[in-house]
Amino acid sequence: MNPTAQIIVLDAGGQYCHLISRKVRDLGVYSEVRASETPAAELASARGIIISGGPNSVYDPDSPTVDPAIFNLGKPVLGICYGQQLMAHLLGGNVRKGDKGEYGLATLELADCPDAMFAGLGGAQQVWMSHRDVVDRLPEGFHTAGRTSTCDVAAIADPKRGFYAVQFHLEVVHTPRGKEYLTNFVFRVCGCVPDWDPRHRAPLLEKEIREAAGDRNVFFFVSGGVDSSVAFTLCTRALGADRVRGVYVDTGLMREGETEFVRRMPNLGVEHAEQQFLGALQGVTDPERKRHIIGEEFVRVQERIIESRRLLDEHWILGQGTIYPDTIESGGTAKAALIKTHHNRVAGIQRLIESGRIVEPLKSFYKDEVREVGRELGLAPELLDRHPFPGPGLAIRCLCAERDEPVRAAADGLILPVHSVGVQGDSRSYAPVLAIDALDHAHATELINRLREVNRVVAAVKTAAPVESMEVRASSLTPERIEHLRRADAIVRRLTHASGYDHEVWQFPVILIPLGTAAAPDSVVLRPVHSVDGMTAQSVLMPPDLLCAVCRELLQVEGIAGVFYDLTHKPPGTIEWE
Ligand code: XMP
Repeated sequence: MNPTAQIIVLDAGGQYCHLISRKVRDLGVYSEVRASETPAAELASARGIIISGGPNSVYDPDSPTVDPAIFNLGKPVLGICYGQQLMAHLLGGNVRKGDKGEYGLATLELADCPDAMFAGLGGAQQVWMSHRDVVDRLPEGFHTAGRTSTCDVAAIADPKRGFYAVQFHLEVVHTPRGKEYLTNFVFRVCGCVPDWDPRHRAPLLEKEIREAAGDRNVFFFVSGGVDSSVAFTLCTRALGADRVRGVYVDTGLMREGETEFVRRMPNLGVEHAEQQFLGALQGVTDPERKRHIIGEEFVRVQERIIESRRLLDEHWILGQGTIYPDTIESGGTAKAALIKTHHNRVAGIQRLIESGRIVEPLKSFYKDEVREVGRELGLAPELLDRHPFPGPGLAIRCLCAERDEPVRAAADGLILPVHSVGVQGDSRSYAPVLAIDALDHAHATELINRLREVNRVVAAVKTAAPVESMEVRASSLTPERIEHLRRADAIVRRLTHASGYDHEVWQFPVILIPLGTAAAPDSVVLRPVHSVDGMTAQSVLMPPDLLCAVCRELLQVEGIAGVFYDLTHKPPGTIEWE
């Protein structure tokens, strides 16, 4: 059983709301995220409430709000960014559009305050800001505790009622003292007691699994990723190997060695469907069609497996590696629903879920916590520290083109006529890519912000011919191109693993683009990123020696004419290219 959440984070639509909850858990206190408008009565068991940031303005119609009765619960409340503005707005203060925005690093001047929230934190310090709106009149009972040169109301307090708010994001690493603020709120203001440690939870989780399964067996579709592998292992330990079955579908779109790697798990059957997937994708170029076809084929395979093994009869329930962020619907995770459609669409699985014949042992855990449980189970670090890998596999990293098109010179670089996806607003949009010469993030960011035509900037690192002489060639998803990509990906994985660099990045997609010469029609794009949860990501540079070694080997792969390096942060560029 999970403990009762001592801190509830109300999700006002910010991409950071899960990060706040995670940071509270890192302090050893169980915390959960709830929808912002959750009725106050449902929050009564919490010791404290945090209202997250969000992209809206409080005065916009339909902007997220909270039940005003939360301020009458007698509980401490902390507002962060939009949360500060919402508190001010609802408690009788005023919010207006600021004269200018304040994005990125700022210097906060915090007064020396004796009260529990800001104690010991007074003075000038770096904080991370991301706002335009400002509080310009405080609600009664509040005083200003901190300001920056742009923002007069950057930290406010009403210690009598235990209400505090900050305009900066204390949950991000760019606010170095953020943890101290959170510690003060959680322990000194709310009086929480440490009750959460993802270690030593395996016996409890196994007990829960036994209760959920009763005398039924559990079957899993295992992807080879961390979550499904840990969930599968937990079930096997809880129920015994005889009562748990896992099936891994080999789509032919996996990385080198993946099937052999997954096969090492006990009780796992491999369903070979390579011909089925590659056949259905043959000749396809459109990215959205690719995803659709892969989703459809997954449904077919899963149906086939369920039917042939009679998994729908009453002796079986479905096990899933769902983790906490998957269960929450928030503004920032709208796409998650899209990502998982292919798993959910199988009618049989849908029926199992609807009738509650499902066990999801990890559904209150964040990724790092899942890894902690995995370590407790003795799972190998190579499994637990794996980078995320998308369900549609190499197919969405192998870009295609409808027709031949030359590279075009522009004022700021070369326009590569391949189309990569970006997050602009809510929808996925495809746009060409700009190539520049230098591995210069600041310049790349300036260009993306300025140029409307592109949503990504890459640096040409090493090419077999001048980039301006290269051409995008009409190309589709063929087994040969997938194989070239698989080889390129394996080289990058081997070299980054040998140097330890794979531990320094959150994910490192390798993408094949149909840009090259007559002799070698494709190029490779390297996309190492730092991230916390994949919702936002920072493009990072790899050590020059490693990059050199990677380029040298990649240019020896058949069909590869060049190596490019993606300098785009997310937003505006997604981590994947399709
Ligand atoms: P994007 O490209 O949206 O990716 O920035 C964010 C994270 O999600 C992963 N991703 C997927 N995972 N099926 C998955 O299972 C998908 O269709 C899919 N698309 C993106 C991506 O690898 C990154 O970790």
